[in-house]
Amino acid sequence: MYNEKNDAPLRIALTKGRLEKNTIALFEEHGVDCANLRDKGRKLVFPLDFGNSIVAEVLLVKPYDVITYVEHGFCDLGIVGKDTIMEHGKSFYEVADLGFGKCRMALAAKAEYLQNPEQFYHGYGKKVIATKFENIAREFFAGKQKDIEIIKIEGSVEIAPLLGFADGIVDIVETGTTLKENGLEVLENICEISARLIVNIASMKMKNNKIDSVIKKLGL
Ligand code: PRP
Repeated sequence: MYNEKNDAPLRIALTKGRLEKNTIALFEEHGVDCANLRDKGRKLVFPLDFGNSIVAEVLLVKPYDVITYVEHGFCDLGIVGKDTIMEHGKSFYEVADLGFGKCRMALAAKAEYLQNPEQFYHGYGKKVIATKFENIAREFFAGKQKDIEIIKIEGSVEIAPLLGFADGIVDIVETGTTLKENGLEVLENICEISARLIVNIASMKMKNNKIDSVIKKLGL
């Protein structure tokens, strides 16, 4: 039976930057030629041959946009960090943990609090937390019944406690170098993070064969 949607090309949104190198490595390890992605210049869309007559259109975009494209069905598949999924994700299938882009989400504050982390919550007035991950922070503190104010900062959040604008941060810790070089320490781990493969809900039905084929091709 003719199925128009199923005959449309498969579209995949990839996170540019941090996860890009590992994503290309995963694809190449499973025989997907990524020469055009490696030599991308200023191009933003790339055809990638996943075998089985599947040539997907691959987009390199910012993390939050991977979620937007997949949720709205502009893309069928996406590769994005669990941090972005937790912060912004609503409705799609999360089908695989890709095992790279590993880091953790943590509450960090000035190193002096490490001696006695409980001290962090003591004292008068509310504690101010600077973070790019408002929703994750809000959920983390919700169960603690502490007086917390969460302030959204777009990047380099370590500056906030360093200069006294905030008491702590909720942020990604990978090597720990950024914290260390700014006199901060992890007080509490919130969760482990890694890259995930996500699939649009309708695409999973309409383009099941192609999606299955790509997932198998990647050894997932
Ligand atoms: C992330 C995160 C930390 C840093 C942690 O920032 O927000 O600042 O990486 O990495 P580390 O533990 O290996 O030092 P990113 O580089 O993504 O940029 P940003 O600060 O502009 O968000």
